[in-house]
Amino acid sequence: MSTRILGIESSCDETAAAVVADGREILSSVVASQIDIHRKYGGVVPELASREHLRQIVPVVREALMQAGMKLSDVDAIGVTQGPGLVGALLVGITYGKTLAQALGKPLVPVNHLEGHVHAVFLEAHKAGRAARLPAVCLIVSGGHTVLYEVKTEGANAQETGAKLNYRKLGQTRDDAAGEAYDKVAKLLGLGYPGGPILDRLAAAASGTSAPVKFGVTKMKGNALDFSFSGLKTAVLYHVRENGEYGEEIRKREEALAHGERKFEQLLPLCSPKTLGLVREFQNAVVRDLVERTLNAAEQLSSESILVSGGVAANSQLRAAFEERAKAAGLEVFFPSRALSTDNAAMIAAAAYSRFRAGILADTSLNADPSLALA
Ligand code: KG4
Ligand code: ZN
Repeated sequence: MSTRILGIESSCDETAAAVVADGREILSSVVASQIDIHRKYGGVVPELASREHLRQIVPVVREALMQAGMKLSDVDAIGVTQGPGLVGALLVGITYGKTLAQALGKPLVPVNHLEGHVHAVFLEAHKAGRAARLPAVCLIVSGGHTVLYEVKTEGANAQETGAKLNYRKLGQTRDDAAGEAYDKVAKLLGLGYPGGPILDRLAAAASGTSAPVKFGVTKMKGNALDFSFSGLKTAVLYHVRENGEYGEEIRKREEALAHGERKFEQLLPLCSPKTLGLVREFQNAVVRDLVERTLNAAEQLSSESILVSGGVAANSQLRAAFEERAKAAGLEVFFPSRALSTDNAAMIAAAAYSRFRAGILADTSLNADPSLALA
């Protein structure tokens, strides 16, 4: 008989619920995104996020159970994101998870959101019939995080057995997360929110266009596996300010966005070759930085594989660069699908399984921890 865990995720701007069997088989995964609510503010507004989670949590959980063909009483345990994330947003999922666990007399498993992102990679690998060999280096790169971990296990074949994993933080961003840099650069260029998907496509369309400016490698004093993206974002800002000709097209794109024209096909004709070249150069710099530091870490630690997860892992150039560089270094690289890259609850239910098996449970005193560390 399999162990079926209901996962609940509400750490940022996605309300999500999923049922996963034995930490591997996704029986259902439902995500209610709040992008349309936060778009006009150019970023996630915590207060609005909490209110929207409150509206969505009950129907989203109900839908996840229905899609899995289950009743609440069929669930073996409830896994809920404890942190890191926005405190008011986390509290909605935690309170609901706690209430369900209490009312049903089921175990409650507290999950670290970042461990969820690691498990998203394993879920995808399992679907593809692959197994990621450990120790691995895992890059979690999203709108809220850019962090490198070493992932190890004591047991063999952790992906298949659900053995508990051990994590060691190798480096992290000292300022903006990579996704945040995408979002800020898109905003200053009049390309809307979120920035990642549109900049990804514009950069692809710019292939062959010459760069109007060159961005160098960010040197890090101290830990060379740390990241920094705010200098790059500021360099884009200064370049745009110093070159007045960007102003007119930015204004036109902002006008288009105000009319709801935010699709790639609508924005591309409003971008000059110079803008496309700038976007491409920005993306080159981000990708180069993420790939180089991750590969350096893998080399230093003699890792078996590289795992890449989080919203920015959906980036096509990042994927291609990792595939190429990892192959050259004789390493296997693993990504989640796009749906599993961004925040979802299947990854939370999968991470909950290994914790459940290790007997890591929470009681009714469980509270949100906005800066919960992964260890
Ligand atoms: O993991 P996620 O859904 O939420 C958190 O931030 O936790 O990631 C969202 C972030 C946003 O900053 C978005 O701009 C970025 O991921 N993103 C991308 C792409 N798709 C989403 N960045 C670069 N390229 C993409 N294709
Ligand atoms: Zn996330």
